[in-house]
Amino acid sequence: MPKRYHVTVIIAHWLIAILVMVALFMGSNVLTEMDNTDPEKINSLRGHMIAGIVIGVLSLYRIVMRFTASRPAHAETGNALLDKLGVIAHSVLNLLVVLMVASGIGLALQSGLPAVVFGGEGSLPASFDEFAPRAAHGLLSKALMGLIVLHIAGAFFHQFVLKDKLLSRMGIGKTN
Ligand code: HEM
Repeated sequence: MPKRYHVTVIIAHWLIAILVMVALFMGSNVLTEMDNTDPEKINSLRGHMIAGIVIGVLSLYRIVMRFTASRPAHAETGNALLDKLGVIAHSVLNLLVVLMVASGIGLALQSGLPAVVFGGEGSLPASFDEFAPRAAHGLLSKALMGLIVLHIAGAFFHQFVLKDKLLSRMGIGKTN
């Protein structure tokens, strides 16, 4: 059983972490604050959509690697219930990221964004609110924010309270 994840999985993990934080911040603090008539909105949407698609591609890679490459056993805390919750939380976290990407793509396709944002044709709809995936995208983003806080708290609990060098599995520090 390896002590670290595959180096490409580690790189994908940290790239996803950064891009998801940026997409969440830009989505909730920049995009939602801009009116669709603002000439800068298309540029902001372009950046957000590219980040989202890259997150999707990297997530697919991680999913493939999850089933094909060997990886460290799931971390243990000494408490069976916490361990079970940890496994469930990781699955839900991955699922939320995939659903964010899927709802974002759904929203983009329904509102004709690819032609406007990447083809320079036509204009943005007055609002995205009339498209069903928009509500899902917004709600899922709040759930994702909550789970990311839990994820980081769990990692820090292992690293600094249990002192089990958990972060070394993701390339930070030496393994045991
Ligand atoms: C994990 C990936 C993604 C994250 C974390 C993310 C995050 C967000 C957030 C937080 C918002 C604002 C939600 C709200 O506060 O109601 C948002 C809006 C939006 N996102 Fe994403 N997104 C992702 C992927 C995508 C993708 C792949 C696309 C399209 C290809 C996309 C297109 C949009 C659009 C069109 C909006 C609406 C902007 C508006 O209402 O003005 N997103 N996103």
